[in-house]
Amino acid sequence: MYGHGMNDVEGMPEQPRLRDYVAWHRAYDDPASSLSARLRQVQGHIADWLDRTPGAVRVLSACAGQGHDILGVLEERPSDRARVSGALVELDPTNAAIARARTARLGLDISVLERDAGTTDSYIGLVPADLVLLSGIMGNITAEDIERLVHVSRQLCAPGATVIWTRGAQEPDLGPDIRCWFAETGFGEVSCDEWIEGTGMRVGVERLDADPEPLVPGHRIFTFTR
Ligand SMILES: C[S@@+](CC[C@H](N)C(=O)[O-])C[C@H]1O[C@@H](n2cnc3c(N)ncnc32)[C@H](O)[C@@H]1O
Repeated sequence: MYGHGMNDVEGMPEQPRLRDYVAWHRAYDDPASSLSARLRQVQGHIADWLDRTPGAVRVLSACAGQGHDILGVLEERPSDRARVSGALVELDPTNAAIARARTARLGLDISVLERDAGTTDSYIGLVPADLVLLSGIMGNITAEDIERLVHVSRQLCAPGATVIWTRGAQEPDLGPDIRCWFAETGFGEVSCDEWIEGTGMRVGVERLDADPEPLVPGHRIFTFTR
């Protein structure tokens, strides 16, 4: 039931029915799950980024869910908490509330905003960021939307920013295309890990070599299809 047509309300685009993204997070309770393997990899890359990026830094996570990646890393690294600020953008109120409670408990200067991460308007006031997390998005949107997201990510970045992205090995395997889209957008690949811990998970790390672009409000970037 993933329609993209028009619904009965005149002029209103039909919204696809999304998965239960609160329940989706339960896979993280099982350390043997493929999502836990992916999370460990993303967290490792965030820790590496913190190690090579001194001083005050800003983080932006799109479709942040419960924020396990960045918040999990900062939970383990108390000495970095004061120098990291930023925002998590998440549509689901329950996931946002869980993330918000954790940022409060850790005393972080990270806002959790209940917004549609698929429109450039949602990033007004939140960019530029030194680390942009695009985890758990590219498997749930069309190839055309992924390409647009990669191009727009340059508008979210501070000079030299790092972007961490994920996309599993499901068909069609868009990994090679995604890497090309980052290259043509002015990013240099830091790493691309595939078949993480024997799972079909893939995590890419890119660094912006080109100059950032200013945020252009009023544009739709992507829509989740499931
Ligand atoms: C696959 S989960 C990934 C969560 C997190 N980034 C992670 O890797 O653990 C996708 C998340 O995106 C959220 N989401 C879906 N569409 C969204 C949108 N348009 N704007 C913001 N969040 C959205 C869902 O509620 C869900 O929490």
